[in-house]
Amino acid sequence: MHQLTNKQIILGITGGIAAYKSAELSRLLIDAGANVRVVMTQAAQEFITPLTMQALTGNPVHTKLLDPAAEAGMGHIELARWADIVLIAPASANFMARLAQGRGDDLLTTLCLATHAPIALAPAMNQVMWQDVNTQRNLKSLLEDGKIIMGPAHGAQACGDIGPGRMLEPAELLVLTAKQFELTVLSGKHIVITAGPTREAIDPVRYITNHSSGKMGYALAEAAVEAGAKVTLISGPVSLSAPPRVTLEPVVSAQQMYEAAMRLAPTCDIFIAPAAVADYSPANVAQQKIKSTPKTMMIELKQTTDIVASVAALPDKPYTVGFAAETQDLLGYAQNKLKNKKLDMIVANDVAAEGIGFDSDDNAVTLIWPDRNLTLEQSSKRQIARQIIQTISQHYDPKIHYGKITG
Ligand code: C5P
Repeated sequence: MHQLTNKQIILGITGGIAAYKSAELSRLLIDAGANVRVVMTQAAQEFITPLTMQALTGNPVHTKLLDPAAEAGMGHIELARWADIVLIAPASANFMARLAQGRGDDLLTTLCLATHAPIALAPAMNQVMWQDVNTQRNLKSLLEDGKIIMGPAHGAQACGDIGPGRMLEPAELLVLTAKQFELTVLSGKHIVITAGPTREAIDPVRYITNHSSGKMGYALAEAAVEAGAKVTLISGPVSLSAPPRVTLEPVVSAQQMYEAAMRLAPTCDIFIAPAAVADYSPANVAQQKIKSTPKTMMIELKQTTDIVASVAALPDKPYTVGFAAETQDLLGYAQNKLKNKKLDMIVANDVAAEGIGFDSDDNAVTLIWPDRNLTLEQSSKRQIARQIIQTISQHYDPKIHYGKITG
């Protein structure tokens, strides 16, 4: 379990019968090489004594926020900065509610507010409490905030019930905690992704747009974060919310998307462009609403700037991946785009096929490089996104550029 060597872990214990298992957990973490400091809530001390945890970890146990003596030793801000991870096991329903609300009414909640470290919770409670609508709502918001939830398990409970809510066993929590320190394939890389449609104004109330839902771009952003990358998502107007830990750059028009991309592309390692950018926009935007009196009317359109091609033309360009949504001769058109736009890779997508493409949840794509293709069978957009990110991470190398991909 080398991932835990020298890692600084705050083990938060809250009030629940599973608190007795935290004693074993602390020993397992220490045996795996971690440095453990224990923070206990008031309720936790009803189940297990600070003295036990102090003896097991060899460090003083922290229990109070407003204790001048404790603050003079290692205060809550120092503790928050010290942690590589905050692991709260067991996490009671009450603690989850307080954390979801962003409270800072005791040492453990304040520390969670003050830390940049990842926060993992191992919930433990009666199965009815776990399934209660309030707990489930808190769970959802904790997940949206980027907290890591470990478990709970399903099985026999201390109260005699059988159901979901048992804390995971200490050995399982040890493995899951170690996993948080595994270096992921894209850690340290910055990925910029464009997503969604753009809107091109005709007059103050009308615009030209397309059917793009943004689902593919948002799924790619989520998969890239999972792979350890720092992700910026330049998104046209969609009804999705940004995945946790993704920096959102909202834009409306193709011109705005171009400006955001040119500002961010020089800072990134990989640029992925699934956005359905308008190829044309009205040459002149009417200042006032156009009247509906003429029988026919003409709107003159001018070509927009090609964003992905502009990024690929940068002197120190990132690894640049385009998308080709086509309704006919998919591979032929996609190969031409790969060449003309000087991309490193293109994802070809048949938007005329049943059940895949624009607004659907599924997709099936062919990845194309100058020298070979790889087809990904139909699957959910999230699954396809993971496969695309994994493939990019295998091919990505700042020293290899267009036309020289091997392997
Ligand atoms: O030429 P076409 O629009 O089909 O090319 C699709 C690819 O080019 C996509 O990756 C899309 O995001 C990108 N594109 C762009 N800027 C434009 C038009 C398309 O980045 N103005």
